Amino acid sequence: MQVERSEPLRDGAAAHTPSVELAVIGLGYVGLPLAREAAAVGLKVIGLDRDPKVAAGLNSARSHVDDVSDDDLRRMLAAGFTATTDEDCLARAQTVVICVPTPLNGDGGPDLSAVTAATHAVAARLRPGQLVVLESTTYPGTTEEVVRPLLERESGLKAGADFALAFSPERIDPGNTGHGLRDTPKVVGGCTPSCAARAVAFYGKLVDTVVQAKGTREAEMAKLLENTYRHVNIALVNELAVISHELGIDLWDAIRCADSKPFGFQAFRPGAGVGGHCIPIDPNYLSYKVRSSLGYDFRFVGLAQEINRRMPEYVVRRAQDLLNTADRPLHGSRVLLLGVTYKPDVADQRESPAVPVARLLRRREAEVSFHDPYVAAWTVDDVPVPRVDDPRSAARDHDLTILLQDHSSYDLPALADTARLLFDTRGRIFRPGVEVL
Ligand SMILES: NC(=O)c1ccc[n+]([C@@H]2O[C@H](COP(=O)([O-])OP(=O)(O)OC[C@H]3O[C@@H](n4cnc5c(N)ncnc54)[C@H](O)[C@@H]3O)[C@@H](O)[C@H]2O)c1
Repeated sequence: MQVERSEPLRDGAAAHTPSVELAVIGLGYVGLPLAREAAAVGLKVIGLDRDPKVAAGLNSARSHVDDVSDDDLRRMLAAGFTATTDEDCLARAQTVVICVPTPLNGDGGPDLSAVTAATHAVAARLRPGQLVVLESTTYPGTTEEVVRPLLERESGLKAGADFALAFSPERIDPGNTGHGLRDTPKVVGGCTPSCAARAVAFYGKLVDTVVQAKGTREAEMAKLLENTYRHVNIALVNELAVISHELGIDLWDAIRCADSKPFGFQAFRPGAGVGGHCIPIDPNYLSYKVRSSLGYDFRFVGLAQEINRRMPEYVVRRAQDLLNTADRPLHGSRVLLLGVTYKPDVADQRESPAVPVARLLRRREAEVSFHDPYVAAWTVDDVPVPRVDDPRSAARDHDLTILLQDHSSYDLPALADTARLLFDTRGRIFRPGVEVL
């Protein structure tokens, strides 16, 4: 591992004396675990978030992020971590890492407003010798074409000479207890070789393995490749689920069998759609780049989006068919949705396919209620969905129960025993009388 140079990159540029080793901008699902890891290895860390409620909560040891517990926060605070809304804290940091959201705008293109706002804040206080890293997921070219010019223009300093600039994609997987920040290799790409060396040395303190990309574009592309790969393969099995049902083939069993191959195959499983911040959104960033730079479409992404977006409609159609077998129309039936987050065992509801499922059921005049151990109140299209307290007894009172997320607290055999009709979209309950996607 190379050793970090704390001195400025250009001879003679005056270095400031940083009082904190790391400032993290954006204290959400990505920024907070990074701050925790850095504090755990003894770095002095400050967190900047534009939301005063986030900063106040963290300073009171209240975590709003699933994978960071209140106990973790207490440890961080004891190690000197503080959260603030004051951008001036950036001037005191040796390294600044930007972890702000990169959503889509109204036209489905990249919304980089949080990245540019954070970059302005850094640029206004940039000091010789600082390392700036962008971690937000974005299209290839963002670091070089958006972040670097802003920093250089507004500070008068030069990347690779006066300060270091790099991109390092976050690979955090909320709810994953098997892999965390430390044991997941970290990809790092610098604007120049010296920028890369600074970033590699910084992340080498936090993670076991740092993988150096050729440059920032390759590091940006690596992240989008990972997520597009998931997106496309989920679409593949979703389409196969529809086809297999028509053909009378148990796709889940076929996946199990294919997964026995020790090489060349990775199992993906169908579901009611794709959710979360990454998979439904990130491939759009790549599509945007392809269309805006090359003038044609990234067809794989378009096709995967079309298939995945149709899954809620397909789930509702299958639910309707199932009710028909019991001589019940969907209209007027009581339907219970179990698990409305985007994946099991997390509270994150972003882009959850449960929303379009509920919307489509309501459009067909079904009476929808829900249960989720992680969600106390749930609103779809500004109309609250009634919550049941006990999923097992509620399944008895509803005409149809649809398992959308298999949270590990669900007693699936008990649900199968009590539900009048059960539709399992996660492929977890294989027994007569249970409909599986
Ligand atoms: N959540 C994930 O699982 C995940 C995984 C990998 C990569 N990412 C990427 O990481 C980035 C951050 O995602 P996240 O899930 O942590 O988002 P988040 O919404 O959980 O947190 C972002 C935080 O940034 C703050 N913020 C926004 N603009 C700001 C600004 N200008 N200055 C200071 N604070 C600001 C917000 O108040 C919020 O607290 C995104 O680009 C995302 O695509 C997310």
